[in-house]
This record gives sequence, C-alpha cells and structure tokens, in this order.
Amino acid sequence: MTQTKTRKPTYLDLLNTICSQEGRAGVFLKAWAGKTPDPALKECLSFVAAREDSHYHIFKRRIQELGYQLEEVGDPMAAERLAVTGSGVSDAEKIRWLKEAGAKQPKPTVGDRYAAAIDDESVDPLTRSLLRWFADVEADSRGLIMEAYARVRTSG
Ligand SMILES: [Fe+2]
Repeated sequence: MTQTKTRKPTYLDLLNTICSQEGRAGVFLKAWAGKTPDPALKECLSFVAAREDSHYHIFKRRIQELGYQLEEVGDPMAAERLAVTGSGVSDAEKIRWLKEAGAKQPKPTVGDRYAAAIDDESVDPLTRSLLRWFADVEADSRGLIMEAYARVRTSG
C-alpha cells in the first residue's frame, strides 16, 4: 500500500539526492576497502559502506511508500571519486583528495538540507523521523571515518 498521492512532496528531490548519494558512497567505500593495505581502515570503510548501502535501500523504500520511484540524482564528482578511491594510490593521498573534493561541494550541502528538513513541519512525520535517525547515524559514521583518517596520517 502506498500513501494517497495528493501532490508531489517538495522534499522528494532531497530524498532522491540522499538515496543516490548513499548508494554511491556504499560503492566507493567498498572499492577503497578492497584496496587499502591497512586492516583497521579496511574494517572501518567496510562498516560504513554497509551502512551507506542500507541507507540507499531504506530511502528508496521511503520514496516508494510516498508513491514515487527513485530518480537518480547525479554527482559530477562521482566517476572521479570512484576512480581515485578504487585506485592504487596511497590512503593518505585518497584522504587528501576527498577532503579537497568535499570542500568544493555546492552550498547548501545535502547535510544542510536534511538538517533543515528535520525541523520542517511541512515534511511528513515519518520522513522527519527517518531523517533524524539518518542524521545521527551519519554523524556517528563521520566520527569513525575521521578517527580512521587520523590514524592513517599519524602512522604514515
Ligand atoms: Fe552517508
């Protein structure tokens, strides 16, 4: 059963963007996990990749529950990001590249957008609840990744 369609929610684009982004993150983190010689980094990347992959499926389902289908939202950096993270360059080099790419992200970022949606009463309550949970998990993942990056820098 899907919910009755009234008019297309304005936040559908945000859900499509998150879903697409999480799917791509799962792929590039897994590619990197398959390349790193560092066992602790590999474990962290694999752990977060599994979360991203699961977020892709959860958001895809939420979009369907609202009565729509996922519409992939592209990212001009995606191909290069996957090429870099899946390559044989050092982990330190990959971290440097990702930081620079992150700084070039258009504003408001996807993170800014979902933070705003959590507080937006025009967004349906279940989606807001999902976004709140998602924001918490993303923050936790970011913390794990930052710790792993810091270890790479201090060890090499
Ligand atoms: Fe994510």
